[in-house]
Amino acid sequence: MKITVVTGTEQKGCTYRIKETFLGALGPGHDITEFYLPRDLPHFCSGCKVCFFKYEALCPHADYVVPIWNSMLDSELLVFASPVYALRTTAQMKALLDHLCVHWMVHRPDERMFHKRAAILTNAVGAIQKGAQRDIQTSLTWLGVSQIRTLGIGLMEGIIFNQLSEKRQKEILRKVVKFAEKFKNQAPPRQGLKVRGLFAICKMMHQQAARKETVLSADNEYWAKKGWIKTP
Ligand SMILES: Cc1cc2nc3c(=O)[nH]c(=O)nc-3n(C[C@H](O)[C@H](O)[C@H](O)COP(=O)(O)O)c2cc1C
Repeated sequence: MKITVVTGTEQKGCTYRIKETFLGALGPGHDITEFYLPRDLPHFCSGCKVCFFKYEALCPHADYVVPIWNSMLDSELLVFASPVYALRTTAQMKALLDHLCVHWMVHRPDERMFHKRAAILTNAVGAIQKGAQRDIQTSLTWLGVSQIRTLGIGLMEGIIFNQLSEKRQKEILRKVVKFAEKFKNQAPPRQGLKVRGLFAICKMMHQQAARKETVLSADNEYWAKKGWIKTP
């Protein structure tokens, strides 16, 4: 199975350990492409909007963003691993998600995203992980991913893996291995109801805009080229 992994920290700590255990538990023979942030995208979105108005390859950070996006499109499984920072995902993960807004359903979605599965692995010293997971999950849903599963690991005893008690370390790794079992079935999921609903609403929106405008926006042109909307 082709897998793209994005890790929202360069530390070889708990996030790394959890991510490695997850990948190991999937078994051998997978084609895995990994990205670490901020190393593989060391920039925030500058807000220039050139992706929205013209073309995503003109983004000043396209040399970083396009390989990540292409790898995601090529993969059957997407893995996002992130520590919780201030109850959210890390800023470097958010920077990647911001750069991918152009591919949200409201702009220029790629239908190859509709049958992918995603795993979101978060960890925090405490139990509260939902905010960080939602940061990633919301983006993946709007990018069209149909099946998204989350695992939040509360470290509880500290934030350095080797300093956790042996019992806690074992418990954590057992949970991760159990979670990975859910991804061993490699059949692509059917397009989810939520994704279908969002696509239908966006289609209506783009169709209406295309009827009104004399010059089509880059988004409307894309939808027309895909044959998803009719142009006058
Ligand atoms: C800047 C920073 C902010 C953090 N914020 C939280 C937090 O809000 N809640 C929490 O439970 N843990 C928090 N943590 C702990 C991390 O979520 C994580 O468990 C810890 O960094 C271990 O992962 P790592 O070894 O991959 O860095 C924070 C850690 C850092 C470095």
